[in-house]
Amino acid sequence: MKPLYKNKHFITLEDWSTDEINVLLEKSSALKKKFKNNEDTTYLKNKSAFLMFFEQSTRTRNSMEAGLAQLGGHANFLDTATMQISHGETGRDTAVILSSYGHGIACRNCFWEIGNKFIREMADNATVPVMNLQCDLYHPMQGLADLMTIKEVKKETKNLKVSIIWAYATSHKKPISVPLTQSLLFPRFGMDVTLAHPKGYEMPEWVIDKAKQNAKANGGTFNVTNNMEEAYKDADIVIPKNWGSWASNTSDDVIDEALESNKHWKCSEAMIKLAKPDVAYMHALPADRGNEVDDSVIDGKHSIVYQEAENRLHTAKAVMAMTMGDK
Ligand code: CP
Repeated sequence: MKPLYKNKHFITLEDWSTDEINVLLEKSSALKKKFKNNEDTTYLKNKSAFLMFFEQSTRTRNSMEAGLAQLGGHANFLDTATMQISHGETGRDTAVILSSYGHGIACRNCFWEIGNKFIREMADNATVPVMNLQCDLYHPMQGLADLMTIKEVKKETKNLKVSIIWAYATSHKKPISVPLTQSLLFPRFGMDVTLAHPKGYEMPEWVIDKAKQNAKANGGTFNVTNNMEEAYKDADIVIPKNWGSWASNTSDDVIDEALESNKHWKCSEAMIKLAKPDVAYMHALPADRGNEVDDSVIDGKHSIVYQEAENRLHTAKAVMAMTMGDK
């Protein structure tokens, strides 16, 4: 019998049922325990995956590389600037060839209106699972680790007030894929999600419609506001993070008038005080310290960012073990 998840692409968690996501979470927790106990987890002996990166990464690259080694396999890191893709070779040809050399293909391509299409083109032509390491629309590896962390910290997800809040940053024009993934995913687990941002930083309309549908089907809620304080008020979890105005402005420019007029959208101690006393502060990292968040918050007692980052290892291993493995 074919193993349940073998060769299933991991492009968006929208393609995975809540039962399937729960199985991934159980596997992640089991792998976390075994990692702590130094137990053998070589479920992918002699298997290899190709990790194609169009952009920089610390957590995603290293959780995949270290994770596959811990599973007994090997990850080939590929800087796409050194691949023939940079001379115009197609995603289709790349996927066919890499499929014939190994057991999985993973890719980060965040270029607006290109990344997701490129990853799907590879998935349509690959004979091995294709894993999305972040595109212009989705970051499923991050979403899964975030959900695992919320469950570890809060135990019950139903009716938690979780606020995904835009924050000021100047480091680069960041993709919308993290807040988009969280907006679609968290309502599926019964959370009461508030998405807060200044005008000009809207998510695409289809995202809001889908997030509301996901909430309705699973007993959660999904609200959008332009009021930062409203989002912090009585929140169980706050996730203040910058994202670019991609849906309304496709320019690559990092700093513009809209950004500079919203410097006050920062996670400060005053904002944290509006939330519940045991509020958890999350961030996918890297954080733009001093702009998105004050050091005293990200380094303070409410912050669970290192636990969240650590869980990237365990969830990445679960995804690889279940999509590339035989069991
Ligand atoms: N959160 C995240 O994806 O981090 P990296 O960009 O370092 O991979």
